[in-house]
Amino acid sequence: MDTTMTDYQLLDGVVLKKEKLAQLAQEVTQLKDNTGNVPGLAVILVGDNPASKAYIGMKKKACEQLGIKSFDYRLPDTASQQELVDVIDQLNADDHVHGILLQLPLPKSFDDQLMLERINPSKDVDGFHPFNVGKLLLGLPTFQSCTPYGVCELMSYYNIDPEGKDVVIVGRSNIVGKPLAAMLMQRQTPGNATVTVCHSRSEDLAAHTKRADILIAAIGQPHFITKDMVKPGAVVIDVGINRVDDESTERGYSLVGDVDFDNVAPLTTAITPVPGGVGPLTIAMLMTNTIQAFKNTFSS
Ligand code: GUN
Repeated sequence: MDTTMTDYQLLDGVVLKKEKLAQLAQEVTQLKDNTGNVPGLAVILVGDNPASKAYIGMKKKACEQLGIKSFDYRLPDTASQQELVDVIDQLNADDHVHGILLQLPLPKSFDDQLMLERINPSKDVDGFHPFNVGKLLLGLPTFQSCTPYGVCELMSYYNIDPEGKDVVIVGRSNIVGKPLAAMLMQRQTPGNATVTVCHSRSEDLAAHTKRADILIAAIGQPHFITKDMVKPGAVVIDVGINRVDDESTERGYSLVGDVDFDNVAPLTTAITPVPGGVGPLTIAMLMTNTIQAFKNTFSS
């Protein structure tokens, strides 16, 4: 039996991001009219990781587009942890700042977790503070981490309902795998899925991934998911954004996902491209959370 299919749907995150930003821009205008104030997002970058710098540039641009105030804080990688603590404390106390984003990864000499815990949970628009992670697991309202939140929004937009389905997530990071598992198993929509989280110690990984109705790759390894790991007819969501050397491009690299797209796509019913799938939504959801943080200041 030939199990190859060719009519897959491309899950386009760029289109959805545009729609979301247009809605959010209107909301910011309304909030400004009603309150005389606008949301503010502070972004802290320690060191000069090129990928982090690129992400921060995109975040800043989105803020400008929406009328959200952005505050940029850059520390050299030689900065002390105390210097970073001082910046976070200052932003926690600043009424113009409603969201604080500490770009990860921090240089090796920093304790990421300790620094994230320093952020006031009510300004934690990344949803990384243990207080907010706990709330997420309990199914209580909180900031949902931006990338998993984007994955859920993309599913909703394309009417991919995970209820009752086998969802297999490859990757157990605090940024994607763990919060996404918590969201998709929740008694909510999208949710109610049977979630399996696989990782580097999983035995016979392919046996797990081949069971997936919805396969989500968040490992950070280029083209890790190959066609022999995917069930025909599955939905595949690729969260990976990997830089690989590419002499044929002007910048010397290209961006590829965790999924071997060319060979996997024809097997699927729907799949995200990289770039242009989940990535753009991370920014849109960060903007959503920042606006939410601003609105929360009026209800608490
Ligand atoms: N590094 C990679 N992804 C993220 C993210 O979503 N938030 C932050 N703060 N850092 C990241």
